[in-house]
Order: sequence, then structure tokens, then C-alpha cells
Amino acid sequence: MTDFHSVTKAVVPAAGLGTRFLPATKATPKEMLPIVDKPAIQYVVEEAVSAGLLDVLMVTGKNKRSIEDHFDRAIELEDVLEAKGDDERLSKVREPADLATLHYVRQGEPRGLGHAVLCAKQHVGDHPFACLLGDDLIDQRDELLKRMIEVRQTHGGSVIALMEVPQEQVSLYGCAAIEPTSDDDVVRVTDLVEKPPADEAPSNWAIIGRYVLDPAVFEVLENTGPGRGGEIQLTDALRTLAGRGEDEGGPVHGVLFRGRRYDTGDKLEYLRTVVKFAADRPDLGPDFLPWLKEFLASR
Ligand code: UTP
Repeated sequence: MTDFHSVTKAVVPAAGLGTRFLPATKATPKEMLPIVDKPAIQYVVEEAVSAGLLDVLMVTGKNKRSIEDHFDRAIELEDVLEAKGDDERLSKVREPADLATLHYVRQGEPRGLGHAVLCAKQHVGDHPFACLLGDDLIDQRDELLKRMIEVRQTHGGSVIALMEVPQEQVSLYGCAAIEPTSDDDVVRVTDLVEKPPADEAPSNWAIIGRYVLDPAVFEVLENTGPGRGGEIQLTDALRTLAGRGEDEGGPVHGVLFRGRRYDTGDKLEYLRTVVKFAADRPDLGPDFLPWLKEFLASR
């Protein structure tokens, strides 16, 4: 029997224009930019899989080819590596195709994150699901998504991830008005606002790119008009759900995340992410770090 309460599917929106990263993102999705030697979106799929979500739907846009190719077999390349006996590279090439069952749906026009999520309606059906933004990385040592799924199981409704940001940065994010619960790391969300001016923000707890969504979000998104920037905003739909009771698809809870998060769609954050990941890599860090220290000392 189908369990309508358990979370088994992940949706990864990757159809944005990536204008902050032009010209690199003119013909390549920003989600395919490498963090050392793996595209950002592979880390995101790995995170979904390690939270037990083996069914992953990618919402892609006009440059979808490279994403599909990355998560597919590459027989010619595999044959060459096999003939050379290069087993290490062979397993790296095969890995993305073996991670999960991947599905694709196309968002014809980038009409906003809310619209991208709505494109997943048919695939997801009447089940709660996780949504992971394809350019937003959570350190694999910090198990945020598992905790969010637990919170959904306890409280029902939808669950967002919140991270404290300095007051002067709240206007870059969606922000939440929150009330405490009996769990230190869980809050009840009473209101949400997308990219508010700093003096109008309800708190400095910002929404980051992980969600566990009740399927009621689809009906709400269908009735949500374009919001900030002329885009259909997921934040606006969540705001509606936050005001509803459990029998209508509410409420919305937030998990307060105090771990490591990397926004690879932003140039400066992207650079920091690559440096951190390279420094942590056992095969690169020991050579990279002394060079980095010398480079900094010479500036
Ligand atoms: P962003 O707002 O970071 O993406 O969306 P963007 O619009 O591509 O970025 P800039 O500001 O122009 O650089 C967050 C996530 O939602 C996806 C993006 O691909 C990203 O993973 N998204 C956004 C869509 O899938 N469709 C959209 O219409 C908008």
C-alpha cells in the first residue's frame, strides 16, 4: 500500500537563467559549474540519496543537455578508460548514472522558482516531497534534509530551512516570522516575505534552498500570481500555507540550520566554496593549502 505520509521523491529545480554568473552560464546551467571536479548538482543529488530519496526529478530549462548527459552513461568514454585499465576514473564516470532514478521535466520559460516546482506536480502526485535547489550546497557532514523529513513526520504540513544572516543581508533572501516550539531547532513559521528591505524584515532568519513540501503547495501555486520580480514565488505559496490548518495543507515549520551552506550561484560564494572543498580534499589539500598560504602572504 502507498504511504501518503512518507517522503520518497526529490525535486531539483535547475531551470533558472543564472544571470549572476554570465557569461559562464550562457550555454551551461549554473548547476553544472564544477566545485573542484564535480558539478554542483551532483553534490545535491548525492545529498537527496543520502537522505533516502532515490527518485529525483530535475526541472530543467533550455540548456538541459549537459545535465542529462552528466547523469547518463557515457559508453565511448567508459570503453576508452576500460581499455586503459583506469578503474578509478571509470568508477567516477559511472557514479552519477548509478546514484538514483532520475526523471526530467522541462520548464518552458523561467517564470520563477514557484513555477518550477509546479512543473513537478504530475510526477509527484499526492505525496509530500523534498525540494533541493540545484545551486545550493549543504555540507554532507550536516544532515539537514533528514531532520526536515523528521519534522514533517512529526508536525505534518511543510518544512523550510532557515539560516541566520546579518541584518544587512536579509534583503537578499526570503525571510520568516517565527515562534518557538518545544524543540530548540524547530520553529513555527507565522509569516514569510521575499527579499524584504532590512528595516521591514520580520527576522534575520533567511530561507535557504531546502524544502519538504506538502502536495497542497501545487493547488496554492496554481492560484499564486507573479510576485516580486514578476516571478511566481515559492515563498508566496508557503506564506499562504503558513496561515492554514493541517486539514488544508498547513502549517509551515522551520528547521534552524547552523551548519555549513554554500550558495554556488553567487560568484564570491562560488569561489569560497571551491577553495574550501579543495582544502578539505585529501588528494588536493596537502598541496593546495601551502600554495594558498604562500599566495596570501605575497599579496
Ligand atoms: P535563483 O533565483 O538563484 O536562480 O533560483 P536564477 O534566476 O537562475 O539566478 P540569477 O539571479 O539569475 O543568477 C534558485 C533556484 O531555482 C531555480 C534555479 O535554477 C535555482 O536552482 N529556478 C529559478 C528555476 O528552476 N526556474 C526559475 O524560473 C527560476
